[in-house]
Amino acid sequence: MRRADKRSKKDYESSVEPYLRSVGIGGYLERDAFWKRLQEKHGPIAEQVAHAISAREEGEDVDVYPLKNTTLALSIDVTAQYYNQMYKEFLSWFCREKFPEPTCLLDVGCDNGILTCFYGTLYPSAEVVGIDKCEQGIVCARELGHRLKLANVRFEVCDLQSLEGAFPERSFDLIMSTAVFHEVPEFPEDEPDSGCASITMGHEDSDCARIVAELLRLLRYGTGTMVSMERCTDGETLAWWIRVLNQAGLSVDADRSTLLGYDNMYDKRETLPVVVAVRSRHPTIRSVEDIPAFRMYQDVEANAKIGDRAE
Ligand SMILES: C[S@@+](CC[C@H](N)C(=O)[O-])C[C@H]1O[C@@H](n2cnc3c(N)ncnc32)[C@H](O)[C@@H]1O
Repeated sequence: MRRADKRSKKDYESSVEPYLRSVGIGGYLERDAFWKRLQEKHGPIAEQVAHAISAREEGEDVDVYPLKNTTLALSIDVTAQYYNQMYKEFLSWFCREKFPEPTCLLDVGCDNGILTCFYGTLYPSAEVVGIDKCEQGIVCARELGHRLKLANVRFEVCDLQSLEGAFPERSFDLIMSTAVFHEVPEFPEDEPDSGCASITMGHEDSDCARIVAELLRLLRYGTGTMVSMERCTDGETLAWWIRVLNQAGLSVDADRSTLLGYDNMYDKRETLPVVVAVRSRHPTIRSVEDIPAFRMYQDVEANAKIGDRAE
């Protein structure tokens, strides 16, 4: 990776909110007001998106992305409602960490490219690539890249389950993955309505493990770093994710990995772990307890659940 430039952490971090505002990511609206406004602005497609999202929330196997990415404006409005706080927290943390400027960055499961274009703005000399399996998402992402005049950012349709042979002779210094792997089969799932932390655990020989192994192939030796913020909503799932990373050949950076908390659109506190992992020949195997930021994770969940029950 290149030498870090002279901008201070504060300069980087203070670019997050103006960037998000510039692409149309504001604050939350009250739920009904949001859907009403979406319908007024985008017409009948908004109702179809609402149905698709609620069917998915009820556990149906519905792919909402082609629909919500019908136009860039619709895509951004929906993303803003669901992810604005998560984006602010994640990008602010990312800026504070001040990773050395990469030569090549890969954003997997980039959707409409809002985070990818931020990386492109932050690292103007880097080649930034966003990939997603949703064609409509990639069309939106390309439009956003053009709108922001980002010549260093490009997007490609690519299914993570078919990464073999992708990007030959290319290595990335940074691979970013935010809220993607829970959509890959065999990621441990929260059981809806279980009311407790019961989960269906996947195997290390899962689709997720195969994808991580392919991503590892794309990471530069020695310094190549994968930053993931996945929907590991309890300590057990986090332990599983760390095992998958370790078994692929990644060492978790215990000092950089952290927990991020933010309020979701329902005003509920959510906490997600950010795992920073480095490609290494002899990966250090870590358990959740070895990583200071994660030791408290089960307590955080327990407190959140107590809070939920008290409401
Ligand atoms: C919840 S969205 C997150 C998008 C983006 N990373 C962000 O943080 O805003 C999940 C994205 O992962 C993509 N995705 C899911 N499974 C995928 C796969 N097998 N290959 C590529 N993309 C995938 C979806 O199409 C969707 O755009």
